Parts: sequence; C-alpha cells; structure tokens
Amino acid sequence: MGKLYEKLTEYEKSDYYPYHMPGHKRNMEGRPFQEFYGIDITEIDGFDNLHQAEEVLLEVEKRANQMYRAEETFLLVNGSTCGILSAISAAVEMGGKILIARNCHRSVYHGAYIRNLEVQYVYPEVSEQFGIALGIHPKCLEEKLKEEKGIAAVVITSPTYEGVVSDVEEIAKIVHSYHIPLIVDEAHGAHLGFSENFPKNAIAAGADIVIHSLHKTLPSPTQTALLHVTGDLIDREKLKRYLSIYQSSSPSYPLMAGMELCLDMVEKEGAALFSNMLINWEKMLAELATCKALKILKKEDVLQAGMKDFDVGKLVISTADTGWSGQQLHQVLLEKYHLQMEMAADTFVLAMFTIMDKEEGYKRLTDALLELDAEIEKNLPKEKLDEYVIDKKLRLKTNCKITKAWNEPKEWVNLRKCEGRTAAGFINLYPPGIPVVVPGEIYNKEIIFNIENWHRKKLSVQGMNKRIEVPVIAE
Ligand SMILES: Cc1ncc(COP(=O)(O)O)c(C=O)c1O
Repeated sequence: MGKLYEKLTEYEKSDYYPYHMPGHKRNMEGRPFQEFYGIDITEIDGFDNLHQAEEVLLEVEKRANQMYRAEETFLLVNGSTCGILSAISAAVEMGGKILIARNCHRSVYHGAYIRNLEVQYVYPEVSEQFGIALGIHPKCLEEKLKEEKGIAAVVITSPTYEGVVSDVEEIAKIVHSYHIPLIVDEAHGAHLGFSENFPKNAIAAGADIVIHSLHKTLPSPTQTALLHVTGDLIDREKLKRYLSIYQSSSPSYPLMAGMELCLDMVEKEGAALFSNMLINWEKMLAELATCKALKILKKEDVLQAGMKDFDVGKLVISTADTGWSGQQLHQVLLEKYHLQMEMAADTFVLAMFTIMDKEEGYKRLTDALLELDAEIEKNLPKEKLDEYVIDKKLRLKTNCKITKAWNEPKEWVNLRKCEGRTAAGFINLYPPGIPVVVPGEIYNKEIIFNIENWHRKKLSVQGMNKRIEVPVIAE
C-alpha cells in the first residue's frame, strides 16, 4: 500500500501514549470519524516533517516525483492554492511584472496581490457557440511578450475547468526564449500522463512549475495537491521558503497518507481504471451525440478553435439557443434526477467524471439528458436568443495594480451605476472562481450587463452585496 499509511495504522495500534497535539489524543472511540482521528498525529518521532522532509514524507514526494517525472515534487496540504502562491512568489520579485492568462483561477490574482505585481494579460480564445473561454493561443502569448518588456514569469491554466488544453509545449518554448519561467496551473490535470489517451501533461511539455490538485481528478482527499519543479529558472530555495510560509505548520497526516494511497492506486491499478473510464466515457458521448437541442462540447470543436487538445472526463452540456439557462438545466438535473453537477454557468452545465465513477453514473446522466433533450426540443424558441456578451468588450481597462485597488478606501455602489468606476474588490462567478472583475479594473457597460444577467439567473456571483452593490474605489 504505502509506507506512511502502514506506519500510521501500526502506530494507531501501538501503546505509545500521546503527550502531544492534536487535542483529540486519538481517543475518539465510538465517535464519528474514529478512523480518521486514529491516524491523525503531528510531527512526532519517526514521522518526518513536511517542511524538511527527510524520511517517510520524502519517500512519498519521491514516489510522486517518479510518477510525474519532474525534477522535484512537493506535497501540498493547502490545495493548489498554496502551490500557486508559492510559485508566483518565487518566480517574481516584489513589485515585479507578471503575464497571466485572464482565465486564471483567483489564487493567481491573490499571488499578484500579495506581491504587489503589475499584471499583464493574455486572453483566452472563446467559443461563441458554447459561451465558454477556451485556452491560450501561443501566438497571442508571443505577441504580448514581444510588446511588453520586463515580464518575469508567465502563468497559464491548462486544462481549463472545462477541459480545454493549450499547446503548452509551444508556449514553453516561447516563454523560455525570453529566459523566464512558465508556471502551469494544471490543477484540473493531475491524471494527465497516466494514459496515452489523455493529453500530455505540462511537465512533459516543458513547464518550469506545474501544480496539480490531486483531489480534483484523482481519488485523493480534498485539499491535497502537488507542486512539481524542473529546470533552473526557478530558485528552489526561495520556492521552499514560500511553501513553508503558505502551507500550514501542522500538515495533516491523514491528508498526506491519502495522497500516498492515491499514488499507489494510480500506479498499481491505473491502467485498468483509466481504460475502463474511457470505455464508459466514449459510450456516453456516442449516446449523447443524438441530442438535438442540447449540445455537447466535443474535441473537434476545441481543435477547430486552434486549441491543442480536449481532456477526457469533462462533459460540457450547452443550453445555448434552447431557451433554457445552464442554471435551469442544473436545477432540473438536481431536483428531478438527483444528479449533482460540478457547475452551472449561463449557457452550459459541467459534469465531471474520474476513474472512480461507476457505470451507473454514466448511465443515469445519459438517460436524464436524452429525456430532457426530447422535452426541450419540442419547445425550442423560434428566434435566436442573444442574452449574453462574450467578446472583446469584456476585456476591461485597468486603472491601477490589484494591490493598490484592493487596499484603497472603497464605497459600495449599485451595479447599474458603476460604469467608469474602478473596482475595489473581486467579482467572481463561482465555481470555478475565475475573476470576472479584478480590483483595479474599470467597469464597462458590457460587464455590468453580464453580471446583472447572471444574478437574475441565480448564478453564484461573489463579491456583490444583497443590495446588488459592488465595491469601487471611493471618490
Ligand atoms: C484552475 C484552478 N486552479 C487552482 C485552483 C485551486 O485549487 P485548490 O482548490 O486545490 O486550492 C482551482 C480550484 O477550483 C482551479 O479551478
């Protein structure tokens, strides 16, 4: 199984008495979560220390490292979030300049906030048809690097939340020609590289730092993640320093053992599990191809838009032009069929599949979608609906750095009245938490229209208060 897990369970059975933390003292017999508490220890003798791993935890890191083939790998117990913060802090000096994809997760923006960075953006391609952001085109990134001097690092997200994979290999070549590091937030791609049917992972594609949320697409507990580093563009000592700052000083042993068990399972049973997943996945896609009203995002759609690849396991179900919003479909799937989706957006719903899904999971969603599709098709609206804006007008102008804007005195102004005002807080559509408005950006008509529209459709818009006011820099 795994040495850490075995050591922990042996220790649980031993007669060592704990005169140490945690306060539950592993004395939770007959109470809920008993098994969890039994192996929940702190850095006692023989159990190593994550912040200076030399023994059993170093072995887990080495195992992960061998499986992912990076030069060095670190276990993360505070999610990809702490890996992203550490990577940015190690790669860019305080007050420096960073180039990020505009569809990055909010943790990337938080890194820029903490380090007072000047942020430049490269914008993802968008699919008008599906109403989603795709990945980053290498040419756009190259143009931006040519145009903007003094960039110290580049951050992109690949695969995206919806599974779109950018050409990381080409992007890495371009970024390296400027002698700066490429950080890839591969939070949604911890499974990449374990089956030849999956896209290549960003480590193999040449990125300097790659961050994986093990918990997102592999059987590992929530909050567990990995950070991989390769090459000499990143100062490893600095990276370790920031990991020790952003990670808890009391890393959870059940979480670390959970990562070890996950790696063990992928290593020993992965081939069979991934191939089984693929069979179920392909079967579901073939059945859903008969849908007449709902549209399923396909690999061809992504390739046609100039993207490198499309991941397996992300089912994007578009409701565009059906008269239904993504949120409506989400609610019906939840209430009528008891199927909980990963996310509902304005024009689509996202379901995700991993090696742990049962055949039943594929079948229940397929049957429900086919039934709903027939129902929706009967009532398709006669005219084309055009309720959302997804174009260059959503590229907001920036007035000042995130750090300044978020720290400035702010006032709350009704959303409808904030055109031309500078944001003093994030507006996020959650999940996945990609900022729609970033502190320092100036509100324009189109973004106000979209936010109002999402709010009306009951999507989860974060950062606005109940009176539909948003924070802007006080005048
Ligand atoms: C693209 C992306 N990066 C990073 C994160 C943060 O990951 P974690 O929840 O593991 O901290 C998320 C979370 O949803 C994400 O979607």
